[in-house]
Amino acid sequence: MKKHIVPFIILICSLVFYSGCSSKTNTVSFTADVFPLFTRSCGVCHRREGGNPNAATTLVFFETEKDILSKSTEDIRPGKPEESSLVRIVSRVQKVGENNILMPPPDSGVNEWTEEEILLFAKWIKEGAKEN
Ligand code: HEC
Repeated sequence: MKKHIVPFIILICSLVFYSGCSSKTNTVSFTADVFPLFTRSCGVCHRREGGNPNAATTLVFFETEKDILSKSTEDIRPGKPEESSLVRIVSRVQKVGENNILMPPPDSGVNEWTEEEILLFAKWIKEGAKEN
């Protein structure tokens, strides 16, 4: 799985570059920037109600803002995108020795996040994963 590590390193390097370039006023907003990504690509399956044939069988929800903000520090580690498992999952990289979880599932027909979107999410975590 070594080849998966390379894009991840590139991602983290670009993140460092990206945050270095952006000014303080350019803070990522959870409500305006991050939450809509989860609604679009995750909430369609990870929700509580409603006859969705794609509904995830696990009890993992990405339906409300609180669902995301209350994820364990392992999923979203404030200040440390490189240690946040959700960044790895949406970046389609796998940590050695970990189950291969890629979301949205590759054959689901739901668009995966673009590199720009992943960077936005990672930057929000780097800025403290705040409810802003
Ligand atoms: C097409 C439906 C679908 C979409 C879209 C989807 N998921 Fe999933 N997800 C699933 C299913 C089904 C599982 C359960 C897989 C399994 O049994 O491990 C799952 C499992 C997970 C898990 C692991 C839960 C556990 O058991 O540890 C995480 C984390 C997760 N998804 C995150 C996401 C994120 C983040 C997104 C959006 C980027 C997303 N998912 C989009 C269907 C989906």
